[in-house]
Amino acid sequence: MDASNKSDDVGKTLETQAKAFFDSAPSLHNSHEITQKLIQFIQHNSSSLARRIVCVTSGGTTAPLEQLCVRYVDNFSSGHRGAISTEYFLKAGYAVIFLHRRGSYQPFCRSIPDDPLLECFELTNDLNIQVRKAYSEAVKRAILDHHTAVAGGHLLKLPFSTIFEYLQMLQMIAISMRCIGLRGMFYLAAAVSDYYVPWKNMVEHKIQSGPPLLDVKLFQVPKMLSVIRKDWAPQAFCVSFKLETDSSILVNKANAALEKYKMHAVVANELATRKEQVVVVTSAEKITGMRDNSESANDVENPLIKLLSKRHITYIEDSGR
Ligand code: PMT
Repeated sequence: MDASNKSDDVGKTLETQAKAFFDSAPSLHNSHEITQKLIQFIQHNSSSLARRIVCVTSGGTTAPLEQLCVRYVDNFSSGHRGAISTEYFLKAGYAVIFLHRRGSYQPFCRSIPDDPLLECFELTNDLNIQVRKAYSEAVKRAILDHHTAVAGGHLLKLPFSTIFEYLQMLQMIAISMRCIGLRGMFYLAAAVSDYYVPWKNMVEHKIQSGPPLLDVKLFQVPKMLSVIRKDWAPQAFCVSFKLETDSSILVNKANAALEKYKMHAVVANELATRKEQVVVVTSAEKITGMRDNSESANDVENPLIKLLSKRHITYIEDSGR
């Protein structure tokens, strides 16, 4: 068998796996509404405002074990990376489709306590509600920034919980961009399930406790990175992430992902230091981005988004030649 046949075979296997995944997935109940929102958002930003568009994925997907789900397998991610990156993309002039795990960290909320949120408020003597003085600047800033982004039509938030919802929405976003030939960006920071139970194999009701051994067969979730590059959005600039706990294998793993999935860039991060340092790996370079504690905007996402935005612009310019 020659090399081209071999790669065709790999492609076919992935296509078959992807088809099996989507065939088994319960359909989104609001897919029409999501499609309308996407078309409107993409048209508004690409035609009227000539903004670059990025899809930021954020938070972990769940793999349910029951159709009427009580138990699920979860993936670690607070959503901090995706939320803060969204803020910097908006600041850099992007329109952002924020595909996020329901209940995960949100853009513009970093200075507001989430535990307990009620800590922010107090009752006045005549039983009206007001923001406590200590939080008033932070709440004002958050409302203003969030409102500017949403009301200006630059931020579209789409929530998911399960791997089924996530991948169906990711496909819809990619295809909406492809339909108008958009060279947008995919910034895939979500922690995506590697294994799932196909819907038709799943029990309907809550699994009963009792047996000492629970036998659940998990199937591999097809890595959709190649599918995005090849079919869903071949013109898009694609950035994936590589998370490891062992720093000695991190950059090699990122390089392997770059090559295997034909990504334009892979952001390598180590669990313990992910808020301080990332390494951006492309075919031409390896650049370390560090949190700069001497700057006021001292998030590691600040240099990261600046760098990716530059590379994205070069990609768009080179593609137009
Ligand atoms: O949210 P925080 O707490 O701030 O943490 C941020 C983060 C550590 C989660 C983030 O920076 C990060 O590294 N995200 C990717 C984590 C991950 O799951 O990596 P992975 O090696 O399993 O997957 C690599 C890439 O393949 C990812 O871009 C993922 O979107 C993609 N993938 C994974 C599985 C799958 N079935 N299909 C995929 O496309």
